[in-house]
Amino acid sequence: MKKLLLLSVALVASLSVMAAECVIVPRPVSFEPQKGKVTLNSKSVVYVADKSLVRPATLFCSYVAAEKGLQLSVVEKQPKGKGVIALSIDKSLAQEEYLLDVTKQGIVIKGGSEQGVFYGLQSLRQVVFHSKGNAKKVAVACMTVKDKPHFGYRGGMLDVCRHFFSVDEVKKFIDILALHKMNRFHWHLTEDQGWRIEIKKYPELTKVGSVRKETLVGLQTKKNNNYDGKPYGGFYTQDEVRDIVRYATERYIEVIPEIDMPGHMVAALASYPHLGCTGGPYEVRTRWGISRDILCAGRESTFEFVEGVLAEVLELFPSKYIHIGGDEAPKHRWKACPECQKRIQEEGLKDEHELQSYFTHRVEKFLAKHGRHLIGWDEILDGGISKTATIMAWRGAHRGIKAAQLGNQVIMTPRHYCYLDYCQTSDHDANNEPICAAGNGKRFQMPIRKVYSFDPYDQLNEEQRKAIVGVQGNMWTEYVATFDHIQHMVLPRLAALAEVGWTYGEKNYDEFARRVHLLRKLYDKCGYKYAPYFFNGIE
Ligand code: ACM
Ligand code: ZN
Repeated sequence: MKKLLLLSVALVASLSVMAAECVIVPRPVSFEPQKGKVTLNSKSVVYVADKSLVRPATLFCSYVAAEKGLQLSVVEKQPKGKGVIALSIDKSLAQEEYLLDVTKQGIVIKGGSEQGVFYGLQSLRQVVFHSKGNAKKVAVACMTVKDKPHFGYRGGMLDVCRHFFSVDEVKKFIDILALHKMNRFHWHLTEDQGWRIEIKKYPELTKVGSVRKETLVGLQTKKNNNYDGKPYGGFYTQDEVRDIVRYATERYIEVIPEIDMPGHMVAALASYPHLGCTGGPYEVRTRWGISRDILCAGRESTFEFVEGVLAEVLELFPSKYIHIGGDEAPKHRWKACPECQKRIQEEGLKDEHELQSYFTHRVEKFLAKHGRHLIGWDEILDGGISKTATIMAWRGAHRGIKAAQLGNQVIMTPRHYCYLDYCQTSDHDANNEPICAAGNGKRFQMPIRKVYSFDPYDQLNEEQRKAIVGVQGNMWTEYVATFDHIQHMVLPRLAALAEVGWTYGEKNYDEFARRVHLLRKLYDKCGYKYAPYFFNGIE
């Protein structure tokens, strides 16, 4: 017992931060502790040398006020005295790069852009939070941090179709991404089980397509036919979408909408049955999985619809990338459809895979005409793709490797490392995990250690590595109906993904784990409902 007590005292001591320790997640490229400390108090100010920095500075002050109780203010006139946090842009740095220098005189953050400064402030936010002190006075240990991300694309995806999440919840998801220095929010907006974005030209999409009559209860198996009997729906108005895009932009996160096609379109087919090969009738899906009903690729009216939807999507989302899905599109209907077969003949295509490729190319051309860039799931590789499409590799890293070998750009999100709906421990039942994703009755296991071990460059030579633009965590929501449960699935595993995306190089799991134990305190302060397993030593 005494031994146990001593052990826990030692643990607590190691958690209350020593000057020499780096507390920042994801780990910075370079961290050097320095002698001494600087004191921040309610008279301390954040000085912005550039007006564009008022916004990130104000956000930083709101974090410190909420998390430490310390009230700081933003000034645009150079102040005198000690304890100033001075922010500036230094164009000699890369866009997302920053330097954070804590000296006895004050704190200096230089970033290559507003975004770089924001990341410096996110690091300082963690440092201040873990520093000794309170609302009146915080003593920040001196340090020099030089930092920049390894990958330019660091994403988090949220599926709001299988289950719907409110505007405030989506913003909270964005806050979580920002804390971890992630810069892309992939918003999965359309599905078989619900269409979630208002399209003015096609009002039935939300009138009919946003509501399913009921939802499967429990894990999906062939035998499970237990439904809740309750209609389920929800969608975002265009004003709400704009609000979320603005919110994310203020946190230097680009929102990438996904309109999944030609598969996963049953909610659209239920709204406009002429879009399908058979003409229906269709109903918004109440089970998970894959539907044989997809958009007809033979009729011109399908492309008119797709372009009509995308035209409004492009108005709402200024992102460079537009995600058009492309996953899990079974070819049964196309095989039996005279219109689709006619298209195959007329275009000289080999088969239905090439027909999907034809479909994707047409959509890509439309996006390119509007200055946008297409992302698709790795299935779009199957019938041949253009060099300019970016591949999101999900069925396995080997799909990304294949795309990289073809010369396409790749975002790595292989499911056994990056799917945040997968279980977090090796014994789901014994550890009382809530329901999590399974295949053929077997639950997928993805403890944080596994996420951390992911190497996006594995098996790629120097040249091919250049094709990997980044990594992403995917939060699918078939089995996740509440935002508390989202947080349980995402945290702390997102910290590992963030570090995979930010800090390429030698790995040290124990050192990472030490910082995540600290980060937990910040999660607590923010009220985040993270999963307990890692913190309780359960894998
Ligand atoms: C996917 O998980 N169907 C992209
Ligand atoms: Zn057809």
